[in-house]
Amino acid sequence: MKNISVIGAGTMGNGIAHVFAQTGFDVTLIDVQTAQLEKAIVTITKNLDRQVAKGTLTEDQKTEALSKIKTNTSISDGVAHADLVVEAATENEKLKLDIFKQMDAAAPVGCILASNTSSISITKIASVTKRPESVIGMHFMNPVPVMKLVEIINGYATSKEVNSTITELSKRLGKIPCTVNDYPGFIANRILMPMINEAIISLFEGVAGVEEIDTVMKLGMAHPMGPLQLADFIGLDVCHSILKVLHDGFGNPKYAPCPLLTNMVTAGKLGVKSGEGFYKYTPGSKELVVSEVFGK
Ligand code: CAA
Repeated sequence: MKNISVIGAGTMGNGIAHVFAQTGFDVTLIDVQTAQLEKAIVTITKNLDRQVAKGTLTEDQKTEALSKIKTNTSISDGVAHADLVVEAATENEKLKLDIFKQMDAAAPVGCILASNTSSISITKIASVTKRPESVIGMHFMNPVPVMKLVEIINGYATSKEVNSTITELSKRLGKIPCTVNDYPGFIANRILMPMINEAIISLFEGVAGVEEIDTVMKLGMAHPMGPLQLADFIGLDVCHSILKVLHDGFGNPKYAPCPLLTNMVTAGKLGVKSGEGFYKYTPGSKELVVSEVFGK
């Protein structure tokens, strides 16, 4: 493993490129939008600067990591020499299937194709390729440079060899890999999303306010963020679409997204990325400025 291509230069893609480059891999970050690639490099530089300021990275290591990242706007060019491609595009099934077809056609024989999907079936993604045994889920958590977990998802056809390669690679990145099977929501979101949904239902039913719900879970359960703040951080649209995958996949009404969540997504209140969700955010700041309980 030497050359890693990362598809999608959003929050997850830039975090994934950051950790691979910092570990010494040659990284090609691919996105159709040049502006998104430029923004990703700015974000990676800022996050490496944090590590330098903390003393966990030297200025030379930062420069070295940045020199390892190249950008490309074409999937076929960008994956042509890859040993591993990690797809971290928008969480949209049709888009991901299309990207995997392109990756499969252009990546060298032997290249492993991984997806950072939070809930789309790896078996389904693998089925559009001619190498389903080399397709695997590599689910990083946000913020990628900080969070230790990589949830590794074995699709129906993923080979043992590919799983061990990705397990060892995750360890090299300083992460703790954990392998799970390919069922809706895998493990992370099968457990996290019902908790977030239940917090939203509690708010919807007027059991408690936003700050009370978050405080109970932060101080009572030692969670770094309360579930409503975490939902804002993940993106309410992302939470909504994962709940729909769980609901459709299991056919169990317990996974139905709370109507308040559906309303907020429809209204464009998506959390931190839109400036407002369960809290309002000042642009460029993660500080909580105003808390507002929708519908009260
Ligand atoms: N890059 C590098 N370092 C970063 C960073 C980034 N993007 N973001 C934060 N950090 C570092 C900070 O520099 C700081 O470092 P030290 O501890 O060494 O001082 C540390 O992380 C903590 O950051 P802050 O002090 O700025 O803020 P905080 O203490 O409030 O922590 C947080 C922020 C790490 C995000 C913390 O609130 C947290 O862990 N929240 C929960 C995150 C979580 O649950 N993520 C999973 C979401 S689910 C998901 O991603 C998958 C899915 O499928 C939906």
